[in-house]
Amino acid sequence: MENMDLSKYPKLKLLNQATEVQYMAQLSGQLGVHLYIKRDDLNGVGFGGNKVRKLEYLLGDAQQQKATHILTLGAIQSNHARLTAVTARMKGFDVELFLKESVAIDTDAYQQNGNIALNKIVDVKMHRIPNDNAMMNKVKARMDQIIKDGGKPYFIPVGGSNALGNFGYVDCYSELLKQQEDLQLKFDYVVAASGSGGTHGGLIIGQILSGADMRVKAYNVQPEHDELVDHTMAICNETLQWLGRSPISKDEINLNSSYSGTAYGFPEDIHLETLQLLAKQEGVFLDPVYTAKAFTGLVQDIKKGIFPLGSSIVFVHTGGTPGLFAYNNLY
Ligand SMILES: Cc1ncc(COP(=O)(O)O)c(C=O)c1O
Repeated sequence: MENMDLSKYPKLKLLNQATEVQYMAQLSGQLGVHLYIKRDDLNGVGFGGNKVRKLEYLLGDAQQQKATHILTLGAIQSNHARLTAVTARMKGFDVELFLKESVAIDTDAYQQNGNIALNKIVDVKMHRIPNDNAMMNKVKARMDQIIKDGGKPYFIPVGGSNALGNFGYVDCYSELLKQQEDLQLKFDYVVAASGSGGTHGGLIIGQILSGADMRVKAYNVQPEHDELVDHTMAICNETLQWLGRSPISKDEINLNSSYSGTAYGFPEDIHLETLQLLAKQEGVFLDPVYTAKAFTGLVQDIKKGIFPLGSSIVFVHTGGTPGLFAYNNLY
């Protein structure tokens, strides 16, 4: 796996060990496949989740650039914002979160619990902003002010999904290849939720660099399909260019957007049924915004025969479980 050596990119280590791969025995029996879940939701940092792997690289870059303040953008219940808050605090940065009012849910739980409660615990500045075209101007104005005050801001885009953030899930792909050997398993597919493309993008690049035959598939958590394909391709191609590799085309991005429901942040009955099923059968809690949608897609596609009977599938649980408490009115 020497092709996957990313050691020239600065990395702030946040994770000490591989996340566990668990076999879903009952569900596998019912569906006629071998279904595993990789527990990135339990990675041990800040309530867990996929963003920690990306932040190892993004904060590594911020530190190399001698940044003092980390700024990022996300929905009110953004897991990315929460994990940026926690990890950047751990590494001694000041943190400012720009939380956009993009999901029209006005319950107290959504507005104050879940990720918001965790952000408060680590004591970071939260700016609530309308979801409009002026969002980035607000971030830029704040960055200018930080510079005037003698600091150095570092901006992380939505979801930490850029060419550098991709490396987090290149690491995950290579971790899975190693776990296959250690556990004497052979995964035919790795499956994950996609929101801003960096998790999917990293896995795609992991497959390209390794030349392995573990195929990558993602499920979109919002109905906007073309935008996400375009963004995933753009960030992948930037990373591939850094690595001296040929660019990919849209055909190499296996994204299914048909189980997303009508909008980001709004789980529907079928997603909640899947969430309850997995909790009751296997003791694994999905989150209502990302993994419940993606896992629903996976289960439905297995039932439709899109994943052949007998195949071995590993679903990456990308976290988001604090969101369960923001949506407590749904169960
Ligand atoms: C829990 C969870 N799963 C999946 C995703 C999607 O990851 P990405 O933004 O890299 O597509 C996110 C992104 O915010 C997330 O919070």
